[in-house]
Amino acid sequence: MNTFTYKYPVTVYFGEKAAANNLPAELAKTGKNVLLAYGGGSVKKNGIYGELMELLTAAGKTVTEFSGIMSNPTYAKVQEGAKLAKENHIDFILAVGGGSVMDCCKVISAQAKTEEDLWELETVKHGGPTEFIPMGAVVTAFGTGAEMNNGAVITNEEKKVKGPLWGAFYNFAILDPAYTMSMPMGQVISGSFDALSHCMETYMGAPRETNLSDEINEACQRNIIRNLRATLKDPKDTAARSELVWAAAMGENGILKIGKVTDFQAHMLEHQLGAYTDCNHGKGLAVIHPVLYRHMLPEAAPQFARLAVNVWGVDPAGKTEEELALAFIDTLASFIREAGLPVTFSEMGIDRATDFKAVADSTVLTGGCCKKFTKEELLEVLNECL
Ligand code: NZQ
Ligand code: ZN
Repeated sequence: MNTFTYKYPVTVYFGEKAAANNLPAELAKTGKNVLLAYGGGSVKKNGIYGELMELLTAAGKTVTEFSGIMSNPTYAKVQEGAKLAKENHIDFILAVGGGSVMDCCKVISAQAKTEEDLWELETVKHGGPTEFIPMGAVVTAFGTGAEMNNGAVITNEEKKVKGPLWGAFYNFAILDPAYTMSMPMGQVISGSFDALSHCMETYMGAPRETNLSDEINEACQRNIIRNLRATLKDPKDTAARSELVWAAAMGENGILKIGKVTDFQAHMLEHQLGAYTDCNHGKGLAVIHPVLYRHMLPEAAPQFARLAVNVWGVDPAGKTEEELALAFIDTLASFIREAGLPVTFSEMGIDRATDFKAVADSTVLTGGCCKKFTKEELLEVLNECL
């Protein structure tokens, strides 16, 4: 086993009425000026905004609203939020939404505390922020697990890069599955696939021999597959939704990564596709995964074969490792179709004239992937996704 240190800073309040039961005590620990950050307005339609405003008012907070955080949040939006936070002497940020709102706020919390350009600081000077406005997250869309980590995926439109910036961890995350029941079904499915992808991308890293982190990971994958199937049958299945919300958080709370070097090559490729097309993250992954995995087959066969048997229930009797590995990719691909996820970029509405060479050329090649891809082969992958 690799050596590791495990410590986690995010307090999770999970379940029914998690906000009403826990926000008052958390808000009592923060300063008076709160930035209430959210997206395009779903929180106003589903009543979450009203509930949170009542709690904030009861706690005597002065609330500054920061709305309109878009899917695939931009660096310009981060700067807008940081300016607002500075002008209003914000003491605490309450991020209410999915991965996009949560990621945007992670960087706002750091950018509001420094005059340095954070993109420059992190990507050119290879430094990191040291001061942050404390934050809490109220999750309204599950999948990314963004509430559990301090990485933010931000699109720099000028540089045509969708990449990670490191911000703060949330002090706490409110995970009330009821808050996610109004998510559009398309987002429920793509969020679930994103969560499954995080598990797979962690699993595919080293060490590649059986280990405890991977065995827990297999259970998470089985859980996501089973509960997404239950949700497809009955979108109002609250038991299945609760499982999905926690499974998604498990994917990014560090437990599955203990002792592992992760892979995340599919994510790196999808992020750059996002930089060029602004596409939906989970859907992009659904198209890329099987195609990329066929390219990884020779190197990844032992792990794919294990996934076939332990996650997807393929009968190993009479099958070679290679046959099992192929069965895994085929089963994954048919699950993607079963879930109603896209299997080609055209189905996602991605323009064939997109500069896929630029996408491949700007994709980070990850050290944790068992296959050392070249930019040329990534371009082949993208072309096969069309
Ligand atoms: O903006 P509003 O009106 O709130 O609508 C949102 C948005 O349109 C809607 N929504 C959210 N909660 C809802 C709801 N609609 C109705 N009822 C609710 N309860 O859902 C839409 C999508 O939201 P968004 O936050 O964009 O989706 P997601 O959670 O999938 O986040 C995607 C972003 O997270 C990044 C992705 O790259 C992408 O930028 N990721 C972040 C990660 C991280 N920090 O760890 C890991 C991931 O791999 C991922 O890269
Ligand atoms: Zn993801």
